[in-house]
Amino acid sequence: MEKMLDGKICIVTGGGRGIGKATALLFAKEGGKVAVSELDAEPANETVAEIKKMGGQAIAVVGDITAPGAADKLVQETVNAFGPNIDVVVNVAGYTWDSFIHKMTDQQWDAMMNIHVKAPFQILRAATPYMRDNAKKEKEAGKRVMRKVVNVSSIAGTDGNPAQVNYSAAKAGIIGFTKSLAREWGPFSVNVNAVAFGWIETRLTKAKEEGSETIEREGKKIALGVPKAGLDAFKAVIPLGRPASTEEAAGAILFLASPLSDYMTAQVLKVSGGWF
Ligand SMILES: NC(=O)c1ccc[n+]([C@@H]2O[C@H](COP(=O)([O-])OP(=O)(O)OC[C@H]3O[C@@H](n4cnc5c(N)ncnc54)[C@H](O)[C@@H]3O)[C@@H](O)[C@H]2O)c1
Repeated sequence: MEKMLDGKICIVTGGGRGIGKATALLFAKEGGKVAVSELDAEPANETVAEIKKMGGQAIAVVGDITAPGAADKLVQETVNAFGPNIDVVVNVAGYTWDSFIHKMTDQQWDAMMNIHVKAPFQILRAATPYMRDNAKKEKEAGKRVMRKVVNVSSIAGTDGNPAQVNYSAAKAGIIGFTKSLAREWGPFSVNVNAVAFGWIETRLTKAKEEGSETIEREGKKIALGVPKAGLDAFKAVIPLGRPASTEEAAGAILFLASPLSDYMTAQVLKVSGGWF
């Protein structure tokens, strides 16, 4: 069977761990050439090494994607490595910085907006010449090439979650962004969709009691994870009764990045085991 992303040039942010890593690996398995954007060098290089081991093509673009100029650098390095075209952009990079509203700082608020909304905006703006403008030329030549944007949202964005007004506002923000860009780029054959995940097993959703991991942002060590009682409560309300693996999450992203979804745009696909 033909591979679903044969020769496609793909950007995956947050590709060093969790959902982003599983997506980068699955894309490579399906023939995609993958630019792995990631904050931390070691996991980024690991993903690239795994892809190369399976005979695929990948590059690591290491650094904070919210830093000034980082989005432009990501797009430039992708194009330098694979050629002047971009077929697929998947915005996965993200984290949580939870507090109840009365304790939440402006810094926490801005950090969530920057990583979940502003970075995807800056990446797609930078990618415009290699997506929209290429498509314009193809259209003039009577050719239709479908391109794909997949933005990762959350059911916290679609339905809300306590202690996450910053995260859920940002994850709702990326849905508005998705729907507007779908309308802007529809005429250029770019499908722009979002996936709203429920509970996917990664370090973001590990039980805090089992020793939570931290992410270092803006000079602060931010503890990730969810209290165990919360996870037990999730299980009770998820119709499928369990969290998803990162591979299951990546499958939904592949669907939206592949020809299987060519007539789908401006949609939010809930991948939550039926939760909400
Ligand atoms: N795990 C879940 O249950 C769940 C549910 C809904 C949505 N999500 C979303 O899925 C996405 C991936 O989360 P995950 O669970 O795989 O987490 P993860 O921590 O396993 O992976 C996220 C990756 O993004 C990277 N990253 C974070 N900030 C970055 C930055 N500024 N620049 C570059 N890279 C950066 C991290 O270093 C990490 O490797 C996030 O946007 C998250 O909000 C996760």
